[in-house]
Amino acid sequence: MRKFWTGVFQNRKRKVLEQKLLAQVDRTKLPRHLAIIMDGNGRWAQKRGLPRTAGHRYGVEALRKVIEASVELGIPVLTVYAFSTENWKRPKEEVSVLMDLIVEYLQKELDELHQQNIKIRTIGSIKELPFNAREELAKAEKTTAQNSGLKLNVALNYGGRMEILEAARTVARQVETGVLQSSEITEELFSSYLFTAGQPDPDLLIRPSGEYRISNFLLWQLAYAELYFTDIYWPDFSKEEFYRAILDFQGRNRRYGGV
Ligand code: IPE
Ligand code: IPE
Ligand code: MG
Repeated sequence: MRKFWTGVFQNRKRKVLEQKLLAQVDRTKLPRHLAIIMDGNGRWAQKRGLPRTAGHRYGVEALRKVIEASVELGIPVLTVYAFSTENWKRPKEEVSVLMDLIVEYLQKELDELHQQNIKIRTIGSIKELPFNAREELAKAEKTTAQNSGLKLNVALNYGGRMEILEAARTVARQVETGVLQSSEITEELFSSYLFTAGQPDPDLLIRPSGEYRISNFLLWQLAYAELYFTDIYWPDFSKEEFYRAILDFQGRNRRYGGV
């Protein structure tokens, strides 16, 4: 009983703190595009004596909170790194659980995401994913195609180098066939061949789990992003953490090479 009331009290305290942080957020200075590397699921689980895959399940809960907070604040674009081109190196069972989780997540959440007016897009080489995952993703994109709210990019089998190479190949082909002159290749043009075509570059990148690297995520697009690192593992990432990151971002002085 005592434990129950302690839990209630802590929850209440957390809510109050969350509201306090939210009240400090300047809604006129939000990132136009927020990118997140959802990392630390495995270590979160191992710390609790659970299999790594349990961490991935709890990671989905954190994603739900962050999507909700992004919608509430009115952030225009959110890109989440869910599976990299390097993650195939993991044990088969883990990869398979991750793929199943995508299917499960979409089957369970698509209606809710649609109701929130979210527009879903996958970025990465989708054709290598299992058939049922591709099917659910295609359905999610189609269902939400006309939505005008948060643009949610889910990076799956995504690699920044692969994305740049693919774009370079396409541009090269166009030059070869005479559609394009090499002198016409500008940053704007090149960007339009990336998965994020038409979207602003990320203003803020969040990486939890105490790792200080980009791990092949949005290499081109992150050129001038503000980077935010926290030691918290992704499954523990909460709205409170989310607001902390936004507030930190709002305190930054962005110079873009100027003075
Ligand atoms: C991120 O968590 C999820 C994916 C990469 C799919 P990890 O599984 O990388 O967790 P850690 O980094 O091993 O703790
Ligand atoms: C990056 O995390 C990829 C995702 C979160 C999907 P990793 O755990 O794969 O990256 P490294 O191995 O720490 O660089
Ligand atoms: Mg990791």
